[in-house]
Amino acid sequence: MSITILGIESSCDDTSAAIIKDGVLLSNVIANQDIHKAYGGVVPELASRAHQQNIIPVVDQAIKLANVSKKDVSAIAFTRGPGLLGSLLVGTSFSKAFSLAMDIPLVEINHLQAHILVHFIKEIDKEKKTPEFPFLCLLVSGGHTQIVVVKNYLEMEIIGQTIDDAAGEAFDKCAKVIGLPYPGGPFIDKNAKQGNKNAFIFNKPRIKNLDYSFSGLKTSFLYSVRDSLKKNPDFIKENMMDLSASIQHTIIEILMNKLELAVKQTGINQIAVAGGVSANSGLRDALINKTHDLGWQTFIPEFKFTTDNAAMIAITGYYKYLNKEFAGQDITPLARFPF
Ligand code: KG4
Ligand code: ZN
Repeated sequence: MSITILGIESSCDDTSAAIIKDGVLLSNVIANQDIHKAYGGVVPELASRAHQQNIIPVVDQAIKLANVSKKDVSAIAFTRGPGLLGSLLVGTSFSKAFSLAMDIPLVEINHLQAHILVHFIKEIDKEKKTPEFPFLCLLVSGGHTQIVVVKNYLEMEIIGQTIDDAAGEAFDKCAKVIGLPYPGGPFIDKNAKQGNKNAFIFNKPRIKNLDYSFSGLKTSFLYSVRDSLKKNPDFIKENMMDLSASIQHTIIEILMNKLELAVKQTGINQIAVAGGVSANSGLRDALINKTHDLGWQTFIPEFKFTTDNAAMIAITGYYKYLNKEFAGQDITPLARFPF
């Protein structure tokens, strides 16, 4: 009998629903919330309201595009956390109600674990190379930066993580300093292609183990730009591309140095990357170079699976369904949710 999972994602500012049948993606609908751009960051109160408006049409469209009926859905999987509580509550409440109404199991999903499992989403008529267990995953998003040993679909161990800001946060905060819109990561990426990555040098953290730190870099960037602006009010305008290329290069070097150390320490050389920052072209190039230089086997997700989406929730739900890991109606979302 086939297994059809409806996945629901509402942890931050994207409302998404997806259908996965027997591990194969049939639909993945995402409603972005443009409203936050005007505020330079996600406004939690506005995000929850937008989720509330979007959730029914998004689910409806996902079911229609997949060409299935509500009655075909075997289980509903939803993001329990981590994320913004008000946003998570919308997806959680919807999923509980759907599970009750359709009399199907409810599956709770950890958003971070789901980002990693995008590597196992199958698509119709597409061949995809999947990592073998155990593999390392560099998970880099707006809220998290971690090196994870993935032992199995649902068994993962964090061996390094940021002690302050996430890599995506560093991109976004530095972008804000030079007047780029939110989220700034993609704008830095675009500018960096036309800049000199060695034009400016910024302080890198000195942490011995596999942990990351990005708050010092952000401060170093801010002070350096502020000091230069005192001497030349047009400094940002004249150096936008070089500043973007240099900060991107520094963030990538910090990420890659620790990843290389993790490979040395674990002896694992199958490396995957996941999360919003894995869309960064400089990071993707750096990983591909390691494939050539150090013989790593690298797994880089398609762009559509890098940022938040429900396909990743549905695929994780599929594996939890096979394991019969179901949640009760008393389940509540968690803003912090380590795995
Ligand atoms: O995974 P995600 O969609 O949401 C979280 O769970 O946080 O990641 C969003 C983050 C933002 O910080 C955004 O600036 C960053 O991913 N991002 C990028 C790029 N595309 C998205 N950062 C650098 N380069 C990109 N091309
Ligand atoms: Zn995410």
